[in-house]
Amino acid sequence: MDSFSIRTRLFFGPDALDRLKALPYKRVLLVLDPFVAKGPVCGELTSRLEAGGTAYRVFDGVVPDPPVAAVAEGVRAFLDFRPDAIVAVGGGSAIDSAKLVREFARKMDPAAADAAKLVAIPTTSGTGSELTSFAILTDEQQKKKISLAGDGILPDEAILSVPLVSSVPPPLVADTGMDVMTHAIEATVSERANDFSDALAEKALSLLGTYLLRSYSDPKDEEAKAKMHSASALAGAAFNASGLGLNHGMAHALGGRFHLPHGRTCSLLLPHVIAYNAGMESLGGRVAPAEPAVKGYRKIARILGLGNADATSAVRGLIACIRFLQSEMKLPTRVSQTGKTTEGEYMAAIDAMTEAAIADFCTQGTPRPPMREAVAKIYRELW
Ligand SMILES: NC(=O)c1ccc[n+]([C@@H]2O[C@H](COP(=O)([O-])OP(=O)(O)OC[C@H]3O[C@@H](n4cnc5c(N)ncnc54)[C@H](O)[C@@H]3O)[C@@H](O)[C@H]2O)c1
Ligand SMILES: [Fe+2]
Repeated sequence: MDSFSIRTRLFFGPDALDRLKALPYKRVLLVLDPFVAKGPVCGELTSRLEAGGTAYRVFDGVVPDPPVAAVAEGVRAFLDFRPDAIVAVGGGSAIDSAKLVREFARKMDPAAADAAKLVAIPTTSGTGSELTSFAILTDEQQKKKISLAGDGILPDEAILSVPLVSSVPPPLVADTGMDVMTHAIEATVSERANDFSDALAEKALSLLGTYLLRSYSDPKDEEAKAKMHSASALAGAAFNASGLGLNHGMAHALGGRFHLPHGRTCSLLLPHVIAYNAGMESLGGRVAPAEPAVKGYRKIARILGLGNADATSAVRGLIACIRFLQSEMKLPTRVSQTGKTTEGEYMAAIDAMTEAAIADFCTQGTPRPPMREAVAKIYRELW
């Protein structure tokens, strides 16, 4: 039996942040991205909490791609302060840190953690973590990312405040925007896609088609920033209902090993995974129309306004569109361009990354079985 729900209460609009004045909680642990803790946004949050008579404590030890040690620090702060809510403000790393803090605190003090609500306030338009039951932990020793999933991880509230994303620099707009694109595409072609996840992914795709490049090229384009913030949440809700796929499994293995930003890693892989899922032998080849993902890619091409002459041109058009976005937003198309590793080190890691990608929780439900040799070939071609 399948089910669908969006349980997180969403606040949006110009005065969305004022929700902090009306929180029905007495003690709040603020889990802050360092960019938030050190900047003017911190005062915007604390002044509203004070106006509402809410006591708070700040935890600003969020680390990008949260590693175990940073989450443990957060658990300590939680158990020490015993808040009745956590308010996470930052990118996906801050929101995931807060989710993980509550999840791990459950092992130490189940009553306190079960009672604590979670309010997610994203400052990037990318992960959609504010509406998902997933959290991604980085195991630094094993150099890999671990996906945790469960209803208890889902935020209770989310606040979409557009002014908070106005400071996102263009390279981060590019990375996080391509994360949204990958979520919407993987949600559409997932084996578990359904009418409800489709509705959310379709809207996210149509917003992406109109606003991603606008948001990248003009930091003052508030309409584009607002629409991309909605697209991010919609795509998050979509994949929360459908699951993701091989692109995310491979991105977790690659990004976890070489510390590549998540969205940039998803973007690197996207043309290759689309080609594989469509049954193409190479990026420019012909699709195998029997592959179940082809129908989804044709629909995506149509939503992005790429025409729909036949299956092969639709899929090739979609790949060309992703290449165009990468070129316009100066995103790398090869791991060698990222400067994060050497060819020898990268090639030596391919077997381990292939294992990790196939075993990754997100790979479940991917539309074409992830054959070991094919996954390793994609990694090799990516250099
Ligand atoms: N839980 C989920 O459903 C889910 C989904 C996708 C990705 N993720 C995870 O989320 C993480 C990535 O999150 P992200 O892409 O939002 O990046 P991030 O949270 O790691 O932030 C990246 C950088 O941007 C800075 N930053 C954040 N907001 C800013 C702003 N408004 N202005 C200027 N700088 C700002 C941060 O300080 C940080 O240095 C990864 O660990 C990824 O695996 C989680
Ligand atoms: Fe993602």
